[in-house]
Amino acid sequence: MSKIGVIGGSGLYEIEGFVLKNRRNISTPYGKPSDRYLAGRIGETEVFFLPRHGGHHDIPPHMINYRANMWGMWGFRKLGVDRVLSISAVGGIKRGLKPGDIVVLEQVLDMTKNRKSTYYDGKDGVVHIDFTEPYCPELGRIILKAGRRSRVALKKGATYVAVEGPRLETASEIKGFRILGGDVVGMTGMPEAALARELEICYAGISVVANYAAGMSGTKLTVAEVMEAMKDSTEKIKRLLKAVFSLIPEERNCPCKDALKDARI
Ligand code: HPA
Repeated sequence: MSKIGVIGGSGLYEIEGFVLKNRRNISTPYGKPSDRYLAGRIGETEVFFLPRHGGHHDIPPHMINYRANMWGMWGFRKLGVDRVLSISAVGGIKRGLKPGDIVVLEQVLDMTKNRKSTYYDGKDGVVHIDFTEPYCPELGRIILKAGRRSRVALKKGATYVAVEGPRLETASEIKGFRILGGDVVGMTGMPEAALARELEICYAGISVVANYAAGMSGTKLTVAEVMEAMKDSTEKIKRLLKAVFSLIPEERNCPCKDALKDARI
């Protein structure tokens, strides 16, 4: 029976059919995760939800303890959790993307500056994980199939630009990111993806376009529009996740599980 972690918005655990078993406080060598993990079951799948910004959405993106959050998921690996789905809000950079669109992430441009982005600070040796493909390719394919099954339209192959925040971007930054190949921009996608890889956890990113990125629409960006778009898309994300859970096989058939092989000096 597969076991899956979900990091994302706090309303997502209200998925139809989610049976809550307990709320788990986890302490880690890196400090406290954003909140308690909600452990439960959807059909045959055991699921562990973590609201990235805390239960009351009071942790800003640059203050999230990413290492503790992912380490908690790793702790659950003793129970068999080896896959994490990440749900996030983004601004749309690519022309044609509009608020409400849902993208499946394939690549990353990491523009963050001040975050603790590794578990390997030297004490446990020097490790360079391969990050050519930052997201689990197998999970990516499953998500696209789940989209077709659940009739949730998805855009594939998106490049995620991770910024430090908490401020939004300048128009020039967005123009530059577009030239570099960025499709969407968000503040939480890194270092989550890299930390998952260091723990050999499969990690996939599903992002909801909440707004046109800075300078694209001619109007000022507001937090209200971001929140509104996320609320509107919650039903679709829940439907999609339900289909994803039903399609995930027991065995992993991807390189993520061997990420530390040949990575150590
Ligand atoms: N920029 C950065 N992060 C975001 C945005 C944005 O426009 N929208 C939602 N998260």
